Amino acid sequence: MSQTRPQNLTLLCLFLFFPLISPCIAIQQQNDNTKIKGMFVFGSSLVDNGNNNFLSNSIAKVNYFPYGIDFPLGPSGRFTNGKNVIDLLGQKLNLSDYIPPFSDPSTNGSKLVNGVNFASGGSGILDDTGALAGNVTSLNQQIRNFEDYTLPELMEMELGSKSKEILAQFLFLVGSGGNDYSLNYFMGLSNSNTSIEVFTANLISNLAHHLMRLYNLGASKFVLMAINPNGCSPMAKARVPTQDGCIQTLNRAVHMFNAELRNLVDAIRPQMPGSNLVFVNSYKVIMDIIKHPISKGFVDVKNSCCEISKISEGGNGVLCKREGSICENRDEYVFFDGLHPTQAVNVVIANKAFASEFQAEVYPFNIYNLSQM
Ligand SMILES: *[C@@H]1O[C@H](CO)[C@@H](O)[C@H](O)[C@H]1NC(C)=O
Ligand SMILES: *[C@@H]1O[C@H](CO)[C@@H](O)[C@H](O)[C@H]1NC(C)=O
Ligand SMILES: *[C@@H]1O[C@H](CO)[C@@H](O)[C@H](O)[C@H]1NC(C)=O
Ligand SMILES: *[C@@H]1O[C@H](CO)[C@@H](O)[C@H](O)[C@H]1NC(C)=O
Ligand SMILES: *[C@@H]1O[C@H](CO)[C@@H](O)[C@H](O)[C@H]1NC(C)=O
Repeated sequence: MSQTRPQNLTLLCLFLFFPLISPCIAIQQQNDNTKIKGMFVFGSSLVDNGNNNFLSNSIAKVNYFPYGIDFPLGPSGRFTNGKNVIDLLGQKLNLSDYIPPFSDPSTNGSKLVNGVNFASGGSGILDDTGALAGNVTSLNQQIRNFEDYTLPELMEMELGSKSKEILAQFLFLVGSGGNDYSLNYFMGLSNSNTSIEVFTANLISNLAHHLMRLYNLGASKFVLMAINPNGCSPMAKARVPTQDGCIQTLNRAVHMFNAELRNLVDAIRPQMPGSNLVFVNSYKVIMDIIKHPISKGFVDVKNSCCEISKISEGGNGVLCKREGSICENRDEYVFFDGLHPTQAVNVVIANKAFASEFQAEVYPFNIYNLSQM
């Protein structure tokens, strides 16, 4: 991700002599086309890049091998073997560095220029989701952290420009909701006495409220990630070992959420003048891999690549066992641990999110289009 920053190229041009000025102008124009300065990221483990490392009493922490075995910086708190979707989208957007995690005390000053990641593994849209994971940062608190700490510091750095003008150059990516089903509704916690329809409608209206908060703070370019087909994950299947194939009750629930999230893109826009939203259907992208793995370069769509920490041995049945064994051919697996996709799957999701021309995958257009608006 350490591309030479175009700004530096432009500066260099100043020292060149006259006949070379026109190529310099071309570089300048190309640079101007890159409208996105960075990303602010909110959500759960699929997009967390290390925030939970800094929480005490959290069991949703993955700062150990084999996590990060294929990541240039090793185990970092990303819930996969290599890069997550945020890292890969950052590359597509030509961001000069990884987005830093909010909870890291060294995330301050000039490190904020590419945006900040607030996501927390195990968290959900509802405040009480994640209680099972001990200590997580709810979406509510994530947005407060943006508002109370990051925004003032960013404004101070960008002295002279108005907050709305700066924030229009950032993508606001939200990837949350999976844990509200897996770690809340289907675990019989709060709200489980309501129907799945009522629960889902409540989640969507909560999320809409959070999006409005961000909009009122100056956000205008949104990326909304679907919930993955968690009913196909090794963790879900291990709970119902008698059943062959994916757990349909869970998949049907998150599918309902995704359909309503896609509708929200059209429903909320009139209330947020000047905004644009993209829905990324990672559910469909992963299901397509599970249904037709070979043509997409995958072989194992069922098992986790790493050895899981077993509940019978005091583990949680989801995350990789510390220093446990691991598959060799990681790019052929869909699932790295009991729930989270491998880097290979993240690459497919990021490519589609950025460039797909199918509205079944990105609605109403892709992130490249969003970046040009
Ligand atoms: C990223 O940089 C490449 C190479 O300079 C360029 O072709 C591409 O358009 C840039 N992407 C964006 C989103 O600006
Ligand atoms: C969660 O972690 C933070 C940071 O270490 C700490 O301040 C907070 O008290 C913890 N909360 C719980 C419930 O353990
Ligand atoms: C920013 O982080 C660095 C590294 O952790 C630290 O030395 C510095 O004091 C911090 N600056 C502020 C203003 O908090
Ligand atoms: C669900 O249970 C809560 C208490 O746990 C109660 O306040 C609420 O009224 C119940 N809702 C329904 C629809 O029964
Ligand atoms: C999205 O970008 C492509 C070029 O990559 C262009 O053909 C298409 O018209 C754009 N769509 C929208 C809705 O802007």
